[in-house]
Amino acid sequence: MRVTTNPIEGQKPGTSGLRKKTKVFMSEGYLENFIQSIFDATGGAQGRTYVLGGDGRYFNAEAAQIILKMAAANGAERVIIGQGAILSTPAASHLIRLNGTDGGIVLSASHNPGGPDEDFGVKFNGPNGGPASEAVTEAIFARSRQIGAYWIADEPDVDLSRIGMQHVGSMEVSVIDPVADYARLMEGLFDFPKIRTMFSGGFRMRFDAMCAVTGPYAKEIIEGRLGAAPGTVVHADPLPDFGGMHPDPNPTWAHELMDEMFGEDAPDFGAASDGDGDRNMVVGQGVYVSPSDSLAVLAANAHLAPGYRAGLKGVARSMPTSCAADLVADAMGIGAYETPTGWKFFGNLLDAGRATLCGEESFGTGSDHVREKDGVWAVLLWLNILAERTETVREILNGHWRRFGRNYYSRHDYEALPVDTANRVMDGLRARLGDLPGTMVEGMVVQSADDFAYSDPVDGSVSRGQGLRVVFEGGSRLVLRLSGTGTEGATLRLYLERYAAGPEGLDEEVQEALAPMIRAAEELAAIRAATGRVGPDVVT
Ligand code: G1P
Ligand code: ZN
Repeated sequence: MRVTTNPIEGQKPGTSGLRKKTKVFMSEGYLENFIQSIFDATGGAQGRTYVLGGDGRYFNAEAAQIILKMAAANGAERVIIGQGAILSTPAASHLIRLNGTDGGIVLSASHNPGGPDEDFGVKFNGPNGGPASEAVTEAIFARSRQIGAYWIADEPDVDLSRIGMQHVGSMEVSVIDPVADYARLMEGLFDFPKIRTMFSGGFRMRFDAMCAVTGPYAKEIIEGRLGAAPGTVVHADPLPDFGGMHPDPNPTWAHELMDEMFGEDAPDFGAASDGDGDRNMVVGQGVYVSPSDSLAVLAANAHLAPGYRAGLKGVARSMPTSCAADLVADAMGIGAYETPTGWKFFGNLLDAGRATLCGEESFGTGSDHVREKDGVWAVLLWLNILAERTETVREILNGHWRRFGRNYYSRHDYEALPVDTANRVMDGLRARLGDLPGTMVEGMVVQSADDFAYSDPVDGSVSRGQGLRVVFEGGSRLVLRLSGTGTEGATLRLYLERYAAGPEGLDEEVQEALAPMIRAAEELAAIRAATGRVGPDVVT
């Protein structure tokens, strides 16, 4: 059935797909226009196969039914969908690759809260399993501004609770177990027997799935296949409103886990994941592992897991992520890559075999096993390393810093700012960048300052305006950029990094260690002065 429609403003995908308030997505024609724009901008759905699933948030199942009917009406041959329309983002990426499909649609606003008054999102991934490139998202946006009609089949809903083959018109719908293929992939990468032995020897863990998508994955893998004690995985049922939790695995939002890990009789290892399962936070007994440090530790130890025994080809990190991983890459004599924020920039490096591990400071780590960051994968790699090294998380971290030095690191977010105020702060610092090299700020000499532009070494494409960075002599840095994932006002992200080579000064409290960087940032960018805020809303 052809339905006439008019273009809708603002369907521009951000850092990670199109995110809007759920009610916006539920408004007439909104989801339909965007889905049709995806099909139209990628050569049509005729004869194609797709993977479909989401993180279970409010409107997930209804949106999936609409997309199935649209795919059918657009001539798609087959859609593989997780039971209950559930698929974590990394599991969807794996299924696209495993089945050689033409791409996939993931329904999620990632770590943003879910519910009728919260957020919803749609991400399109290409045949390599990774987020659509900038060129593709631009084409989708361009199409959304010209769209005049969409196609939708007038057919009954598919029974998504029933595993097996069904049809929408002549299109095949394969409803599959969302966990099975993913669990098999993990089993091939990690030494499950060794980890199982560690658990049976009394190793205790807490995994907080935050009422989001990783619950079923963690239950099956960590409690089921690895034999962790029942109850190891908490908040394990994906709920439409995430049980009111904010499924963002950081010390602020995963405070229950933090309290437990820093409390008495804490488990040996703690972890949490986000709405759609691509993010992770890891915590040891009384010690928090920053995502940048986690990437560096994983890079230095990945060879201990069977899937990475041959060594790494290279390590890639987003520009604001600390340089800790570069130090490991240098020591190992492998490539170190610095990309703009957002997982889509890692795809080419992974496809070309230049990088094996990738990571972002925003609780994202992954490898070439899929083309997304992968929370459960990161947790399993940590478990494999812990099982091999038989040291605590704290001992592993301390040893790492003694060897490579420590990149003290923190991100300060100023949220829901008026857009023009945030732009003024960015413009103010941008205007000063050219004059900064050679000057002193807070007793530190500025070595370089620029508006980061990335030139992709694989396809030569250039992405400009990716964040303002000020690098000081000795390896300390400040980075300032605007968030590309928010749905309200503007969010300024200030990234602070101070390098301590050691052997002294490796044990300071992080915010104290960064105090000079915080002062330098205010001197250079005057965020507090311009916004009238006394400090950041979220510190990670
Ligand atoms: C944020 C993170 C970024 C991550 C993205 C999607 O984007 O900073 O690292 O890739 O979410 O999870 P931002 O809001 O900063 O544009
Ligand atoms: Zn996510």
